[in-house]
Amino acid sequence: MVLQRQEYLSDVWRDGIFENKVIFCTGGAGTICSAQVRALVHLGANACIIGRNVEKTEKMAKDIATARSGAKVIGIGAVDVRDPQSLQDAADRCAKELGGIDFVIAGAAGNFLAPISQLSANAFKSVIDIDVLGSYNTVKATLPYLQQSAKLYKTDGKIPPPKGTGGRIIFVSATMHYTGTAMQTHVSAAKAAVDTLAHSICIEQGPRGITANVISPGPIAGTEGMERLSASKESDGSATKHIPSGRWGTVKEIADATVYIFSDAGNYVNGEILVVDGGSWHTHFQP
Ligand code: HXC
Repeated sequence: MVLQRQEYLSDVWRDGIFENKVIFCTGGAGTICSAQVRALVHLGANACIIGRNVEKTEKMAKDIATARSGAKVIGIGAVDVRDPQSLQDAADRCAKELGGIDFVIAGAAGNFLAPISQLSANAFKSVIDIDVLGSYNTVKATLPYLQQSAKLYKTDGKIPPPKGTGGRIIFVSATMHYTGTAMQTHVSAAKAAVDTLAHSICIEQGPRGITANVISPGPIAGTEGMERLSASKESDGSATKHIPSGRWGTVKEIADATVYIFSDAGNYVNGEILVVDGGSWHTHFQP
């Protein structure tokens, strides 16, 4: 099914702003990450999406490519972000086939509900490994390409970077660790660490023209997180009454936040956490 632009992207963005840019995205076949990549591809980028499931990843790549005539979107499956070599191979293939890597989305994540009393050390470690080690591995595999991309555009640092600066990272986090959340010890610990990756990388890599930021989605309709992990549905009154915006969000709203951070409008945003949750976490509401 070919989606119409208004279904995945606001009309405030100008077509072509990411022309000649290349996206590398882990977890790219998932609902949120595929929406992020689809929006960027619509606006001119080419992309490589990474996933564990070959069929799902390749199918999603083809689907995303319909966002723009002439778009190149490669799906590389059978890649586990916990394995640095398979990620490195994927990053090298992406750069070789698409001409570099300008923007990275570290979106692969693992989640299930379990109280700590039933959480084995291996279960805890599995989520930490996917979320934290996986994000680290993603940055390590792509950093030389990002540095190259930032260098191509970087000036002497005294004036803002010119139009179309590359070398940007977005980590996809969550909001449960901003308060406390039952059944999510493992994920809360993992996402807290993911947030801090952006803080440190921004300090280390900022002088090289690279930005590293976090997007923390709140309750987003139609996502695996909400369908598999949330006890409520949006139509239940209890599921929205503590959300200041009064509703669940859409993947389009996460895509719009992504476009902002990667666009020239986001040049001076570095090491930040952009929470896109309709104000939910301020009320301690957890989906
Ligand atoms: C307790 C569990 C469990 C459960 C798995 N484990 N599921 N423990 N309750 N429901 C334990 C296993 O028993 C095992 O420990 C350990 O975790 C590893 O399990 P494996 O199946 O071998 O791991 P693996 O194949 O690597 O799978 C990783 C996974 C899995 C995280 C466990 O759930 C997964 O791959 N999920 C798909 C990706 C995903 O979850 N995406 C959703 C992201 S949504 P033992 O001790 O038995 O060896 C998101 C948004 C959050 O992140 C928003 C919230 C609303």
